[in-house]
Amino acid sequence: MACLFRRAIAEQVSRVVGLPSETVAQSIRVIPVHRKHESPDFQLFVNSLLDGHSDPTSNIHEKAEKLAKKLTRDSVISEIGVARGAVTFKVNRELLTKAVLHKISQDGQSYGLNTELLSVLPKRKTIVEYSSPNIAKKFHVGHLRSTIIGNFIANLKEAVGNEVIRINYLGDWGLQFGLLGTGFSTFGCEKELEANPLQHLFDVYVKINEAAEKDDAIRSSAKEFLKKLEEGHPQVLSLWTHFRDLSIQEYAKVYKRLGVHFDDYSGESFYKEKSQEVLQLLKNKGILKTTENGTGVIDLSEGQDFSSYKAVVRSDGTSLYITRDLAAAIDRMDTYRFGEMIYVTDKSQQTHFQQMFKILEILGKDAGRCYHVPFGLVKGMKTRKGDVIFLEDVLDEARARMLQNMAAAETSKELEDPAGTAEKIGIAALIVQDFKGPLLSDYQFDWDRALQSYGDTGVFLQYTHARLNSLQALCDMGDYTDTDTSCLQEPSVISTMQHLLRYDEVVLKCLEDLQPRYLVTYLMGLGHLASVAHRTLPVKGSTPEVALARLLFFRNVQKVLGNAMKILGIMPVTNM
Ligand code: ARG
Repeated sequence: MACLFRRAIAEQVSRVVGLPSETVAQSIRVIPVHRKHESPDFQLFVNSLLDGHSDPTSNIHEKAEKLAKKLTRDSVISEIGVARGAVTFKVNRELLTKAVLHKISQDGQSYGLNTELLSVLPKRKTIVEYSSPNIAKKFHVGHLRSTIIGNFIANLKEAVGNEVIRINYLGDWGLQFGLLGTGFSTFGCEKELEANPLQHLFDVYVKINEAAEKDDAIRSSAKEFLKKLEEGHPQVLSLWTHFRDLSIQEYAKVYKRLGVHFDDYSGESFYKEKSQEVLQLLKNKGILKTTENGTGVIDLSEGQDFSSYKAVVRSDGTSLYITRDLAAAIDRMDTYRFGEMIYVTDKSQQTHFQQMFKILEILGKDAGRCYHVPFGLVKGMKTRKGDVIFLEDVLDEARARMLQNMAAAETSKELEDPAGTAEKIGIAALIVQDFKGPLLSDYQFDWDRALQSYGDTGVFLQYTHARLNSLQALCDMGDYTDTDTSCLQEPSVISTMQHLLRYDEVVLKCLEDLQPRYLVTYLMGLGHLASVAHRTLPVKGSTPEVALARLLFFRNVQKVLGNAMKILGIMPVTNM
């Protein structure tokens, strides 16, 4: 695949320019497929390669031409040209198809994920912290975004060989539990709690909040409850554990529907004692200052003049959100010895993370390993029931709408599990709509647009995957190890091969920017190429050799499509 060709090109160029071929290889890129005409396969950017190595007076185009003249065609390289400051290469067509298809058959799941291009990336232990909803509060759309983006980042890192630890930092501490504890004795019902924990805790929380607004006594009893909780009062603690356990069980069920899992659910409560240790650490370093009203703060200003500072402890000694986050970061550094830690939250928490990383630096902890991936707001996500309160509501809505669309479409087949299939397609639609643009941008949510079966949607990807799959099921021709692919020379095959060559470059780009949109765009391209090929290259009615070669082609396209969809967090369907 790309490696074989990259290497062949790099070796020739290396002999001419006198640079190591590994260095040359890093400057070679696959040329994106052009819709209208066939382009060469690879380009070598002369500027990035020859920086400081050649005569500075000549322009890039001349440099490229000079280099191109010194190169010769061989059994791999069939044409050499020059375009826009790059030397371009076309490789042997028969070899192209054979090498790419063979590589996919051979590598399966890891196709494009263990290439030389990606080998420059450090294999690090990676923590990804995502989702992190607050118990008893709304699971808002921001939490959904965090869940799917974090899952994507974790999948991507894992796919290229990193050890990944997935953490859900639950909001399971703080005054809301004081209120909940107090509220439960008035509004709570054990039966309802068991039957529908998230809903019931949310209801109790809403009611007690309303009541607390009018009644000081309730507020002080909530504080009292929280104090007991912080002191570890057994009865109070057991009620809290009960709420927490039931909530996690319920969350895990819904995450499973979404195809998401976590290795660890240690939330804020886990760090209540450790945050006292952090405060001690800050005190020992002499950087914890106390304000007039008794709040403990850290000076974050350049000039040490308190023009910018952050509170880390309340006057009554209880910890704050940032204190627990500091404790969690330090604890994870010690426990996991990670190479990098990635936090995924909406952009409103950008300052929070900047300040937290800065305090870690002040404490002498290597915060350079910590990254925050912020994302924008989703506007207008509503379900038929109204505002989104639980993750389950969104999934139910996506499934219901998709089931309806499937029933209306005449092409739909009799399915074994229509609801399950509809759910997987609906989730794909949500993910693609969310991943299309830069993560930091806000966007307007639209069910109808997301669920369209044509255009660049998740439904289209699922549809393409299912269609390629049913092709396999129709004509199962065993294993393909000796398939002769020399008959696969149609333009639609060649374009698809060129596109498949570029997969690792797209993965690299996603890793560099931690953005899924490159992969989404790439898969839409692959889906459209596959559709054209599917329309123009019939399997049935072709000679046995041609049929077999085409089947191999379609099967391998389906493999790459399916694997990449899984990285995005989509569960590919095989029938729809
Ligand atoms: N529970 C928080 C919220 O809903 C998100 C937690 C983000 N992670 C963190 N380490 N602070 O806003």
